[in-house]
Order: sequence, then structure tokens, then C-alpha cells
Amino acid sequence: MSTAEEWIGGCSGIAVTEGNSGSEAENRNVEAGPALVRMERLGKRYGKQIVAVQDVNLTIREGEFLCFVGPSGCGKSTIFKMIAGLSGPTSGTLEVLGTSAKEALKQSDIAFVFQEHTLLPWNTVIDNVMLPLALKGTPKKERRREAERVLEMVGLKDYMNVLPRQLSGGMKMRVSIARALVSRPKLLLMDEPFGALDEITRQSLQTELLTIWRKESKMTVLFVTHNVFEAVFLSTRVVVMTPRPGKVSGIIDIPVPFPRTGEFRTSNEFGELVRTVSESLQH
Ligand SMILES: Nc1ncnc2c1ncn2[C@@H]1O[C@H](COP(=O)(O)OP(=O)(O)OP(=O)(O)O)[C@@H](O)[C@H]1O
Ligand SMILES: [Mg+2]
Repeated sequence: MSTAEEWIGGCSGIAVTEGNSGSEAENRNVEAGPALVRMERLGKRYGKQIVAVQDVNLTIREGEFLCFVGPSGCGKSTIFKMIAGLSGPTSGTLEVLGTSAKEALKQSDIAFVFQEHTLLPWNTVIDNVMLPLALKGTPKKERRREAERVLEMVGLKDYMNVLPRQLSGGMKMRVSIARALVSRPKLLLMDEPFGALDEITRQSLQTELLTIWRKESKMTVLFVTHNVFEAVFLSTRVVVMTPRPGKVSGIIDIPVPFPRTGEFRTSNEFGELVRTVSESLQH
């Protein structure tokens, strides 16, 4: 996180979703859902020399879980910053939640989770989680109720009164996720959130994240990862990008029902999908 503006962007969010924890295997039928993000020939140039993103065409629908994979420097974070309204496109069009990204940011229906946890070290866990609501002027009682709700979701209700430094890396990431969820965002942008975690913590957070996403049945998650296994495990679709200038080189459907369990990770189907995404990355 580099600026206060980005941090505030990361904290913002609203929007209500209906609970649906459905224990049966389910496929998200997102094709008929409204388009939340539309990119048409979207481009971003930094100065005269650096074309970070070029001609990206992509429509993202409500309820999707979309992973972006691609080599370092291909423009993944740049696309996320544009969607979050933190940086403007230099060509093409971008529509977010039916309006411009800057307007969508004002409506605070978007939340951001970064690789670094970005918690305020002097605030307790619950104060950190309540902060986006405090910034919006939500009454104190409601702030607390909502913060407790999301801390319960990430399994950290017992830790609400401790300081971030008393938590492990995985727990700090859970708090960051809770803080992003507290305002019930329509769109959750996650930029390599699990990159700094060990494999076991990472896998349990992947499963927890999918459980939360399934409960929040209309929430759309956009997730950047370098890890093809993670992308296949989480996504309804994987967007593969080329080296700079970043373009979309392939979009791969992951038509596997939820909930996805450890069995899926060791299945032939999983292996095949990982191979397909890896091959697409190499082209
Ligand atoms: N503020 C900036 N000013 C100038 N160039 C920038 C800026 N931000 C990003 N870039 C350049 O744009 C390109 C894309 O950067 P971006 O951070 O979007 O890549 P990325 O795909 O997220 O990479 P990584 O996987 O390493 O996080 C890079 O060449 C980078 O140097
Ligand atoms: Mg990046």
C-alpha cells in the first residue's frame, strides 16, 4: 500500500448480499447476471514509454470469482487500480458498477485487499475492522455488530481485542479480509493476498475465502495470483495475461462445482485444468 488514498479505497465498501451457505454442490450461474465491470480496449500508459495495459476487453458478471494470472509487470495491479478508481485509464473504456470507476469508488461498493495486511498497528483488531464503517459515519453499535459478524466469519472473534503485532501472518490476513468484508462490498479486489503465506495457511485461507464468497452470493471477487494451482482452485474463470504490454491472452473456464474440497486438489480434473492454464501462460 503506497498512499493514504489507496488505503481508504481499500477500506471502503457497502452493499448487501443474501446469505446462501448451500451445503450441496453448486455451480454459480453467473452468465445471466448483470455486468459489474466492462472493459473495452482498455489501456494504461505510464509516461511516454511504458505501456502497462493494452486493449483489454473483458466483461465481469455479478457473482464471479475471477483470477488474473500473468508474469510480473504484465499490468495486473494496474488493472485493479483502474477498477478501484485509484488510477485512470489512458485509452479505451472502463465501466464499474454501471458508472465510471471514480464514481463507483465514491459509492464505496468496492473493497481492496493487498499482499501486505495494511492494518493500523496501534488499533486493536476490532478497531481496525470497524474503521471503514467509522469513516462512513455508521453508528457505533452497528459498527461493532458488523465487525463481530465478519470476525466470526474469518474465525477471529476471540482475538478482537488484541493488537495486530500479536497475530501470525495468516491471522493478520484474515483481519484484512474481515475489514474488506465489513461494508458488504459488491466487488472485492484481492491483489496477491496470500503471496506471503506458507502453503498450509494459504490453502486453508483459500477454502475459507470460497466459503465466504459462497455465503455472500452476489459478491464478485477479482483475485491476482502468480500461483496457477491457487487460480484453478478458486476461480470460476481464469484470465491469463501476456508479458508487458499486458493483454489478455486467454480466458479459461473452471466449470467445477462448489464446494471445492481437498479431493478436488488431487483430482485428474484439477491437474488437467492446471496444465491448460500453464500452457496458456507460456503462449
Ligand atoms: N506508477 C507507475 N509509474 C510508472 N510505471 C508504473 C507504475 N505502476 C506500474 N508501472 C509499470 O507498469 C507495468 C505494470 O505494472 P503492474 O504493477 O501493474 O504489474 P503486475 O502485473 O501487477 O506485476 P507483479 O506481478 O510484479 O505485481 C510495469 O512495467 C511497471 O513498472
Ligand atoms: Mg502487482
